[in-house]
Amino acid sequence: MRLIDLRSDTVTVPTDEMRRAMAAAEVGDDVFGDDPTVRALEERAAELLGKEAGLFVTSGTQGNLVSQLAHLGRGQETIAAENSHIVMDEAAGHAVVVGTSVRALRERPDGTLDPVEIDAAFRDPTDPHEPISGMVTIENTHAHSMGQPLSVEYTTEVAAIAHRHGVPLHVDGARFFNAVVALGVPPVALAGPADSVTFCLSKGLACPVGSVVVGPRDFIWRARRGRKLVGGGLRQVGVLAAPGLLALRDGPSGMIERLADDHENARRLADGLAEMTAIESPGGIAQPDAGPLDPDRVRTDFVVFKVARSRAAFLDALRARNVLMVEYPHGQVRAVTHYGIEADDIETTLAAVAAVLRETAPATAGTQ
Ligand SMILES: Cc1ncc(COP(=O)(O)O)c(C=O)c1O
Repeated sequence: MRLIDLRSDTVTVPTDEMRRAMAAAEVGDDVFGDDPTVRALEERAAELLGKEAGLFVTSGTQGNLVSQLAHLGRGQETIAAENSHIVMDEAAGHAVVVGTSVRALRERPDGTLDPVEIDAAFRDPTDPHEPISGMVTIENTHAHSMGQPLSVEYTTEVAAIAHRHGVPLHVDGARFFNAVVALGVPPVALAGPADSVTFCLSKGLACPVGSVVVGPRDFIWRARRGRKLVGGGLRQVGVLAAPGLLALRDGPSGMIERLADDHENARRLADGLAEMTAIESPGGIAQPDAGPLDPDRVRTDFVVFKVARSRAAFLDALRARNVLMVEYPHGQVRAVTHYGIEADDIETTLAAVAAVLRETAPATAGTQ
């Protein structure tokens, strides 16, 4: 029976075309700048997001890390969202490697930070006691708010605040193209206000490895040096960059346009789940109001909810039916749609969830 793996959009496997491109890729020593496939990918990424230059890195985490190394000096501070990947999920690289602190602000349920709070979070540069504010970062899409896309207007507003204080805005755009597609805006428009953007090839774009950082040429030079520092200078790495070039093609042959299918499938999944009384609001910033799951919260490829059962037993029983979802913070369950998940898989998943809820129904409760 086919496995329906909804744990993350990172579980995709490369297409046959990607594997052929990997085998045929023209390569060179990228530390010498000799790999034509890597160079082509970096140029394509920069062009697509309207920036001067790009840098191929091993992962989204490395992209954020080298961006911080390039933007910040030791003892500086980044203003960031408290549930963001940079703050929660990157092993405190900002502190360990970059030597900086984070001023973490609470997100709103739409994934944004309050601009007034961002403005107020800047330290007093004349006070020798305080850290020196050095960067603002936002996450787009914003994972913990159920993958909300952040608008061009919001990005522009945050960039204006950052720039007024003389610091750059970095966008952790691990799922930047999901935001582009959900908002229906050109990538250049969404990236435009930011000084630097990292996006992942290995998530919705279905590549096996890698992310790209884009920004001004001098920033990319410093990021390249930072990448070397963290051991990310690779050699004939065009074999890994080749799928990225395919993914970033315009139109139906690329992997960007089709993200709309993932969003539609996620919405279909949420619509079905919302009809089941044991599927509940995930709470917190993913959906602040209690009660049933609200499918309108699903704007991109994430569906997050709580289940009125033992979460571990629910996930195990789903696994026994060849459907995988994953535990998410605060007692939540997450399902993510991606390349390889079809509309039929959503119907199969909904049937599996309904069956599991029936099987695991408390003796006193009614059936699902
Ligand atoms: C918002 C966000 N940023 C960065 C990353 C890091 O990406 P990677 O796993 O490639 O290091 C992730 C990974 O899930 C993410 O969700």
